[in-house]
Amino acid sequence: MRKITLAANWKMYLDESNSISFIHKLNADKDLFSDKDIILFPSHACIRAVKDHLDISLKIGMQDCDMHTQGAYTGSTSINSIDIDSCIVGHSERRIVYKETNSIISDKLNTILSSNANPILCIGETLKEKNENLAISVLDKQLSILPQDLDGKQLTIAYEPVWAIGSGDVPSNEYINEMLSSIKNRLKSLYSDTDLHNIKLFYGGSVDASNIEELLSVKLIDGFLVGSASANFEKFKEIVRKIKL
Ligand code: 13P
Repeated sequence: MRKITLAANWKMYLDESNSISFIHKLNADKDLFSDKDIILFPSHACIRAVKDHLDISLKIGMQDCDMHTQGAYTGSTSINSIDIDSCIVGHSERRIVYKETNSIISDKLNTILSSNANPILCIGETLKEKNENLAISVLDKQLSILPQDLDGKQLTIAYEPVWAIGSGDVPSNEYINEMLSSIKNRLKSLYSDTDLHNIKLFYGGSVDASNIEELLSVKLIDGFLVGSASANFEKFKEIVRKIKL
């Protein structure tokens, strides 16, 4: 049976006390959330508190990490600084706001692949690139940093069109299917069947309870990377109810 993963990218929406109160609400609704395939991505500074307060078994991840794992890197966070399940890399907010290039993202991806955590590599085209019919070549370029083999690691590719993030402008299912098919073909040309088995495809960009059921009919989607709607407990709960994870 298809098992959908829900990844909650809290970005910088929740401070420590808001993160803890979110977790208390999850704990109070054990029957709905327990043992679901949910990964929470709090701010780095809130990961410890989230782990300490969580009474149910959910995965925890980092929203980003340094390419280095230890040393004189003021203000940065090592993937090894705390035990986590997963780490996002290459999010468009990192690419655009923090000017992270494909080369930086490649170094970070390799660092995550060498750690105990599994990477979620975000890729996606801007509106301008879409309008110039460059979406597929942009995705191909962003995927060009993938390693030759995965050595048994789990990898997730999150397709997040930049123009869909935070805009309420969700692509049609046909469009998502076309992009995910292109990503899948690229992956098939790179990896063995064993590695392909360890790769998931997510969609992200303005996902909420009003569109999740429609999006679920895109069969290539294995999960969702949700931003603002995942940082609001009631909205998040509604999504979980509708997915029936
Ligand atoms: P929104 O769900 O707020 O559009 O953000 C999507 C995203 O960037 C998840 O990583």
